[in-house]
Amino acid sequence: MTGKPTVAVVLAAGKGTRMRSAQPKVLHEAAGRPLLGWALAAARQAGCARIIVVVGHESERVRAAFPDPDLVFVEQREQLGTGHALLQAAPAVAGAATLLVLSGDAPLVRPATLARLLAAAAESFGALAVAELDDPGALGRVVARPDGGLERIVELVDATLVERAVRRVNAGFYALPAPEIFAYLAALRPQNAKGELYLTDALGAAVADGHRLALVELEDAAEAWGINDRRELQRAHRRLVERKLDELMLAGVTILDPATTTVETAVTVGEDSVLHAGVALLGKSVVGRGVALHQGAWLRDCRLGDGVVVEPYSVLDSAEVESGARIGPFARLRPGTRIGAGARVGNFVEVKNSRLGPGAKANHLAYVGDAEVGARANIGAGVVTCNYDGVAKHRTEIGAGAFVGSDTMLVAPVRVGEDATTAAGSVITQDVPDGALGVERTRQKNVAGWAARRKRRRGNQE
Ligand code: UD1
Ligand code: CA
Repeated sequence: MTGKPTVAVVLAAGKGTRMRSAQPKVLHEAAGRPLLGWALAAARQAGCARIIVVVGHESERVRAAFPDPDLVFVEQREQLGTGHALLQAAPAVAGAATLLVLSGDAPLVRPATLARLLAAAAESFGALAVAELDDPGALGRVVARPDGGLERIVELVDATLVERAVRRVNAGFYALPAPEIFAYLAALRPQNAKGELYLTDALGAAVADGHRLALVELEDAAEAWGINDRRELQRAHRRLVERKLDELMLAGVTILDPATTTVETAVTVGEDSVLHAGVALLGKSVVGRGVALHQGAWLRDCRLGDGVVVEPYSVLDSAEVESGARIGPFARLRPGTRIGAGARVGNFVEVKNSRLGPGAKANHLAYVGDAEVGARANIGAGVVTCNYDGVAKHRTEIGAGAFVGSDTMLVAPVRVGEDATTAAGSVITQDVPDGALGVERTRQKNVAGWAARRKRRRGNQE
């Protein structure tokens, strides 16, 4: 290897017209991360200390989405093509360096590929990644020399019929020498169908000058997929998710129906956990060992302890569930929720910003918001913590071992003591002391013989 530093340059200034979107293309997400974020992650993992991002279209939005201190943003005011884009990085590169050039719209690139490009470039003028695709789409076609090096790259719109039939494509990842490459970029002229300054033409010019550019064959041809429209976005999203699922399966996680399962890249799942069909694990979720996520469970930014069971069609957002607890079916845990070990949250129960102690139960049809529920307490069917008075939120406290009867309204702020009970149907507005029974309802009156009297009255009317 040369002693020159490696600088990554990520081209991200284009509008991405074919996305048909109000949002810049590189901010569209695949597998939970903006397209540009994938390229940046690959560059960082490949060990690039310096990353220059060329922005242009909606550059303020792109910068704002990546406030990372290790990035240097360079402005390409007019998007005159990839060659012009890379040239804008010249002042920021300053001095001799090996440039790793990536596309902000190619999220499947892997760090190992970038390492191979650098190794190949150390032996020649530069290197570029290529792949054989069954469906080469609109990617640039690579024409090789008899010695295996690059001859030139032809964009689809400029290609002859014979060139169009070439299935070997330019993936758009390069390792190139600075400052030498900038001279070729500065000499570019827009002599092509798009009227753009093509980076690829600068490579052709270097070859014509007698330099050798090595072709590095991709191990996974999908790395070459650049995203230009929504179908390609979907395809890349699915492939990125598949990579993650493969990784998890090899690490001891059972995934019963990968085609309907989504796991985002930052998620971790412990051994012997089982993911059923239609599960989504998003954000920074951390799932323990031996966890069962049944059909249709949706989790974002959650922490699940070992042996947790999430029954079908439950939605958990920024919640923590301790070991052995059971959630759902049809449960909803909202942000700030912590469910204690072995606790139970059943169907049509919503919990928000609340702690349920170990072994506590809320099995059916309840709303628990801004509450502290003690160990082993039981929340009956239809219980509601009335936490909002129209202006402010208030807390409810339910002591350990308490029994909150069905259809109790707990008007917060209020406390139900340890081992206290509330009678079914009560509207509790005052604290219930430890061990007491809180009853708030009118006494029942039975009217004897009422049915027979009604029948007689009706008979008289006819
Ligand atoms: C480019 C390559 C093509 C290759 C493909 C791989 C050229 C001429 N063609 O084509 O050979 O197969 O990538 O995906 O390089 N960009 C700028 N400024 C510009 C134009 C583009 O920053 O003025 C950025 C875009 O935001 C995008 C990247 O460069 O992230 C690639 O540009 P795009 O227009 O998508 O190039 P392709 O036509 O896909
Ligand atoms: Ca592209």
